[in-house]
Amino acid sequence: MKVWIDGKVVEGAEAKIPVNDHGLLYGDGLFEGIRVYGGRVFRLDLHLSRLAAGARALGIALPGGVGALRAIVLETARAFGASEAYVRLLVTRGEGPLGVDPTTCPSPRILCIVDAIRLYPAEQLARGLDLVTVSLRRPPADVLDPRVKSLNYLNSVLAKLEAKRRGADEALILNLEGRVAEASVANVFVVRDGRLATPPPADGALEGITRRSVLELAARLGFPAEERSLGRADLFAADEAFLTGTGARIVAIRSLDQAELASKPPGPVTRSIDAAFSELVKEPAMGTAL
Ligand SMILES: Cc1ncc(COP(=O)(O)O)c(C=O)c1O
Repeated sequence: MKVWIDGKVVEGAEAKIPVNDHGLLYGDGLFEGIRVYGGRVFRLDLHLSRLAAGARALGIALPGGVGALRAIVLETARAFGASEAYVRLLVTRGEGPLGVDPTTCPSPRILCIVDAIRLYPAEQLARGLDLVTVSLRRPPADVLDPRVKSLNYLNSVLAKLEAKRRGADEALILNLEGRVAEASVANVFVVRDGRLATPPPADGALEGITRRSVLELAARLGFPAEERSLGRADLFAADEAFLTGTGARIVAIRSLDQAELASKPPGPVTRSIDAAFSELVKEPAMGTAL
């Protein structure tokens, strides 16, 4: 593992942050999970622009702006030296006295961690994921906006914990109106009669970059695709369903609340989207070369 911290790249074990960083004390900060495929950082500009939007929402001035963050990601990924890698970029509120007040923290801290990618177990990918609808709901935007990829991930952590305790692989999280928001750290798609649908961000979904890539690929492949509100019934009625995320990529869903979906996963549409995504990540226009 290589880590960019305080202006230089060090080995993972050497990277330490002070305990008075408000990222640790209050989850006050932001992060991005980014992949390196074939020596190119996949859709780096989209990740940086999502981070910059989150920083504006939290009132954090990015030190050096997006340009500095881009250079830090590339420097750390180069130091790691592998053509396939996972990048975790963090911006915390920085150090300050005890007390939630962010105005007491003069300078945000940037951290960039690059490590080998940890994939879903192959056996789980092959059989498809079992989801349960968890009791915990995604907070609405006027409580904690799910579109901001902040360091405050307890909602996802507790949703995942509930899913695991109930014997499932992953959580289906609803919003307060009972509409599907997303999974713990991935977006949800359903496929019915060859048409794709995914919940709109207003229903509590992060504007995932894999989600966006899948919507673009659906258009290229000629599958009609739309953002629309979904209920659990849409999953039960689906021919296929899958999750998307930087870590997970595209993972078929086998069941929801112990009811198996119509197609044995991965279904034909999921397979063609997945194959197209594997080609997309190799396209030079999609990545920033190390
Ligand atoms: C809550 C949440 N939803 C969805 C996603 C998927 O987004 P992306 O495809 O940009 O990784 C993530 C990624 O970490 C996430 O944390």
